[in-house]
Amino acid sequence: MKSFVILILLALINNCFAEAEQGDPVAGRQKSKFCQGCHGVDGNSVNPLCPNLSGQNANYIEKQIHDFQTEKRTDSIMTGISQGLITDQDAKDIAAYFSSRKPMVGFNGNKIGQNIFREGKPQRQMPACSSCHGDNGKGKADDNNVYPIIGGQTKDYIAKQLKDLRSGVRHNDPDSIMGNVAKKLSDEEIDALADYVSKL
Ligand code: HEC
Ligand code: HEC
Repeated sequence: MKSFVILILLALINNCFAEAEQGDPVAGRQKSKFCQGCHGVDGNSVNPLCPNLSGQNANYIEKQIHDFQTEKRTDSIMTGISQGLITDQDAKDIAAYFSSRKPMVGFNGNKIGQNIFREGKPQRQMPACSSCHGDNGKGKADDNNVYPIIGGQTKDYIAKQLKDLRSGVRHNDPDSIMGNVAKKLSDEEIDALADYVSKL
């Protein structure tokens, strides 16, 4: 009898872990109704300062929510929303939902942006954006929590993030890896990059 109870307990514990590990995109669709007001039904944003979440790496989405919750990353809107409304399981489910949507896309053209994106600026020790964000900004490896997908992201959001990372207002990147890049960019280059990357 005793071992039977232990078996059941073990099964229950296992079940909890299984649930905690993986997000449920179907539950996430429901849970993200409120988020969809700004980030769009499928994660294609309805406001240029709200990022697209469609097809973004699930682990990256979770990391950002967690960073907002712990105030490692702050934003007048997202800090409050993350702290008030999202449990760890909600974050996993919502991340699973948005990441399962069709990857964000745009349309292309800007030469200055293209050049920095593909080649970087070796004379300023600045690596190519593509070396971390992948060809066309579509990410480097599957679903890692470090390098976000940026190709097809909204233009004003990209420009704002580059400026926030440059000034240090946003500083939740590991080892200032992204801040150090942003600090080497002029306003003109940020505009060109935002234009280029948003259309990838
Ligand atoms: C009122 C509008 C609004 C609502 C509602 C909202 N967001 Fe946001 N969200 C934003 C804005 C604006 C930003 C960009 C913040 C910045 O500029 O750093 C953002 C950023 C994010 C990011 C960071 C994305 C990235 O690429 O780094 C994630 C993840 C996110 N929101 C998830 C959510 C989730 C999950 C919900 C629902 C629980 C939600 N948001 C609800 C406006 C909103
Ligand atoms: C050495 C690696 C590296 C290089 C090179 C790099 N990035 Fe990043 N970038 C990162 C990391 C890591 C993050 C995520 C930081 C975090 O965890 O919040 C990031 C975040 C970003 C974000 C915010 C994305 C979001 O959804 O909030 C933008 C925009 C961005 N990078 C654009 C660029 C551009 C444009 C270039 C080229 C000028 C570039 N990056 C070069 C590593 C890099």
